[in-house]
Amino acid sequence: IPVQAFDLVVIGGTGDLARRKILPALYKRFCAGQMSETCRLIGAARRDLSNEAYRSFVREALREFAGELALDEDTVAGFCSLVHYVSIDARGEGGWQSLSDLVGQTASEDAVRAFYFSVGPGLFSDIAERLKRFGLTDEDSRVVVEKPFGRDLESARALNAQLAQYFDESQIYRIDHYLGKETVQNLMAVRFGNMLFEPLWNAQYIDHIQITVAESVGVEGRGEYYERAGAMRDMVQNHLMQLLCLIAMEPPAHFDPDAVRDEKLKVIRALDVIQPHHIVRGQYTASEGALSYREDVGNERSKTESFIALKCHLNNWRWAGTPFYLRTGKRLSHRDSEITVVFKDTPHSIFGPEAGRHRNELTIQLQPNEGITLGVTIKEPGPGGMRLVDVPLDMSFAEALGPAADAPDAYERLIMDVIRGNQTLFMRNDEVEAAWAWTDPIIRGWEARGDVPKPYDAYSAGPDDATLMMRRDGRDWKGLS
Ligand code: BG6
Repeated sequence: IPVQAFDLVVIGGTGDLARRKILPALYKRFCAGQMSETCRLIGAARRDLSNEAYRSFVREALREFAGELALDEDTVAGFCSLVHYVSIDARGEGGWQSLSDLVGQTASEDAVRAFYFSVGPGLFSDIAERLKRFGLTDEDSRVVVEKPFGRDLESARALNAQLAQYFDESQIYRIDHYLGKETVQNLMAVRFGNMLFEPLWNAQYIDHIQITVAESVGVEGRGEYYERAGAMRDMVQNHLMQLLCLIAMEPPAHFDPDAVRDEKLKVIRALDVIQPHHIVRGQYTASEGALSYREDVGNERSKTESFIALKCHLNNWRWAGTPFYLRTGKRLSHRDSEITVVFKDTPHSIFGPEAGRHRNELTIQLQPNEGITLGVTIKEPGPGGMRLVDVPLDMSFAEALGPAADAPDAYERLIMDVIRGNQTLFMRNDEVEAAWAWTDPIIRGWEARGDVPKPYDAYSAGPDDATLMMRRDGRDWKGLS
């Protein structure tokens, strides 16, 4: 379904995010017929480039990151004809009038105007001020900002306040690309579109929930940023927190932006203060040909964590007493993101102790190979009496849906939602602040104690202490090994 005509200005249009994600995502939507001929994509950055030079940059980005679709030269040329470029000085005056003139020449009077801040948060305020002063925005314009949205509660509040000077909250789209992933949205469909799960979705029937987002990649040339962030700021405060919200929230009355975000906010606010012994920090060491984290970032004394495992609780009626275990890290044995909901034992086993312990598990595989598996207990076939065995009721989306399962990339979905004016999958100011309010004291505690992360071998399952934390509770991590 084509979206309304739009002008999307990518500020930081020559940067890595534009090259890897934003341009390929737009191109794929163009190929899918969602962008009309009157749409424009305007790159704006410091570099002095002609339109033609920027189009070459775009072509190169598509060749590298848009896969087979970029092989069709006519389509690429069609897309590039919508592309423009203006050189701007984010902190000075240069280029802003030209950008304003260009945006003013819109081909379609009612085109949606969106500004993607693909730059560090230190520039948000300067850019917002200039957009306003040079008459680029009005009350219908939208701005898109990326993480990191601050590095603690104070800086996030400051950023929110800066943006609020120029834009209404309804115009601000804070991206957490995990919310654009198809299976993440499916969490809501599974929970609230089926009668089967919701009645059991509480502390009475669920033993615990695990969320793992494991990566096999290291810091990939982002050492400087990562050293200041660590896994807590890079992944837990945003992506894992969002997954936790979708798993734990109450059913919203409607699937509309504020109804959903109100419920997510309540989850974050219900998070209990975490005990220091319920967190394991790790840092990878050299193994299997991979450099150590410290070598990767060029800091022999680094105390930054590349791995986190933690146990937390929600202080509310639905979840009292049910632990949530969260785990994420880099240079782990393989890429594997999944959520496992482990149900409680049946109240009484009619088959006696020899039948063993069997529990239903619902596994939601986010990546790779999106799908959902429900583990059910059945009789082991054969004449050997009533022996029980757990088997998966499997639903691979690829098998069940065929080509329809080829989900668009998260950025494709999210950018189109910006144009549609749908904020459901974007973080609201209070959500971001609440997430920092929870992570801040944890990080400050490590800093105060000079906490040193536990070493783990690159391409392993993380530090032993993470396994021990689970074992102490009589449980095991699922997935990654
Ligand atoms: C980003 C983090 O937000 O998410 C990266 O900054 C991480 O460190 C990435 O690698 C993971 O995203 P995905 O979509 O590859 O799981």
